[in-house]
Amino acid sequence: MEGRTVVAIDGPAGSGKSTLAYRLAAELGLPYVNTGIMYRALARRALQMGTDPADGPALQHLLEGIGFEVDRSRTPPSLVVDGAMPGEELVAPEVEALVSTVARHPEVRRAMAERQRELGREGAVMEGRDIGTVVFPDAAAKIFLDASADERAGRRTREREGEAGVAEGLAERDLRDARVNPFVPASDAVLVDTTGAGPDEVFLQALRVVREALGGRR
Ligand code: C5P
Repeated sequence: MEGRTVVAIDGPAGSGKSTLAYRLAAELGLPYVNTGIMYRALARRALQMGTDPADGPALQHLLEGIGFEVDRSRTPPSLVVDGAMPGEELVAPEVEALVSTVARHPEVRRAMAERQRELGREGAVMEGRDIGTVVFPDAAAKIFLDASADERAGRRTREREGEAGVAEGLAERDLRDARVNPFVPASDAVLVDTTGAGPDEVFLQALRVVREALGGRR
């Protein structure tokens, strides 16, 4: 059973999910799977192919042509897209402008969830919005991260080295996500508010929560 441990890290953009999920994966010796990358990869492919973002079945078909795998030669093992590490192309403004629209189609979400279950089959720290509710409702540990809107926009701006328009972009994406994909924490998730907390503090708090939930299994 040990190999099948799934830790779900959900929360909105800029809540500090990626930093936390990556560190937890490294600490627990589990693969790190960032599901936002999968939606971003689909949005990018739709842009490249000129696919209508309102056409759910066409997007689902497009998704079938994208390869997602856990590269086990990395530490921690991590998600690769068509054999390559995800890069800057997936945080481009045109991708961010489209991603919530692409993510709202039920057929796309169903297909994504299936792929994500496959990726997490042997255990993973999986990061997203709906991991603890939809993808792995029986995850061994669930954390829902949150932070104030200002703090989240500030983090994104720092991550992107002061790029103009990040705060507006994030606020718009939040609004779109809230309208078309309203995500709620799982009823059994532990809520961690990261406002004003440094990454080390968040990591140690989350690690305690996870270790307790796993009952010494990791
Ligand atoms: O986490 P990240 O900000 O990279 O996610 C990008 C977008 O992908 C989100 O704004 C959301 O629209 C979508 N997403 C989703 N479900 C997930 C992960 C991401 O709908 N599990």
